[in-house]
Amino acid sequence: HQDDDIYTYDTLNQIAKFFLDRTKVRPKIGIICGSGLGAIAEMLEDVDKFPYSSIPNFPVSTVEGHAGQMLFGYLDNVPVMCMQGRFHYYEGYPLAKCSMPIRVMKLVGVTHLIATNAAGGLNPSYKVGDIVIVKDHINIMGFAGNNPLQGPNDTRFGPRFPPMNKAYDRKLIEYAMEIAEEMGMKDEVHEGVYTCLGGPNYETVAELKMLKILGVDAVGMSTVHEVITARHCDITAFAFSIITNKCVTEYESMEEANHDEVVDVGKRRQSILSVLVCKMVTKINDA
Ligand code: 6GU
Repeated sequence: HQDDDIYTYDTLNQIAKFFLDRTKVRPKIGIICGSGLGAIAEMLEDVDKFPYSSIPNFPVSTVEGHAGQMLFGYLDNVPVMCMQGRFHYYEGYPLAKCSMPIRVMKLVGVTHLIATNAAGGLNPSYKVGDIVIVKDHINIMGFAGNNPLQGPNDTRFGPRFPPMNKAYDRKLIEYAMEIAEEMGMKDEVHEGVYTCLGGPNYETVAELKMLKILGVDAVGMSTVHEVITARHCDITAFAFSIITNKCVTEYESMEEANHDEVVDVGKRRQSILSVLVCKMVTKINDA
């Protein structure tokens, strides 16, 4: 890594202070909007908006379907901060830089993370538009030695060797299942295992067959390093995936994954996802 890609405690604290000096909101919950899922941010009230380009030392996200701003406001009267647009590894940032905003969330006072993403459905029972409550992940990029926690460890954030067997909070998964049931959505909401690949290309048939054997239900290009960074600094983590396309696991198939479809399905399902996120926020706040 280049030195200028290392975010020290002091730099991250300066970013946190930048926000705290400019908003009265004191968020307890951090939300990340995935591709085509920016509508969640539109539900915030009494909002203070910070385009990434206006935040000192902040990267700028460049993906279509990602607005690139940090919002502070209230969701159902609960103070939250919301990333409208995230940083992806395929944009060229090291993983630690992609997940750096999680540490800023921590320094601002956030205790819970709700991440959302668009994902390919590998589990054959998943339909396009379905929602996956992430129950666990497989850090495939970590298998190859790439991890957001790599490098010197600052124990003010967390331990050198953090456990990861309780990455996704069981209580929050239960809340989400209850909400899905209340909304009559049981048939379209699943609990599944997510994995993140570096991208930007989608997977080959052989890669997807391999992932299926490994027990992966949904495949994307985000979230895993954010959740690892959150758990390291003891933020409670939760994630929703929207299944934007079915993974192609036969050579004969005429289907091909494409970004426009991913963003379109996200846009089509973002209002329902916003309701789910909103209800999660209320439930977390009331607990
Ligand atoms: Cl099929 N793969 C990956 N890696 N990310 C995706 C996807 C597939 N569909 C949406 N996002």
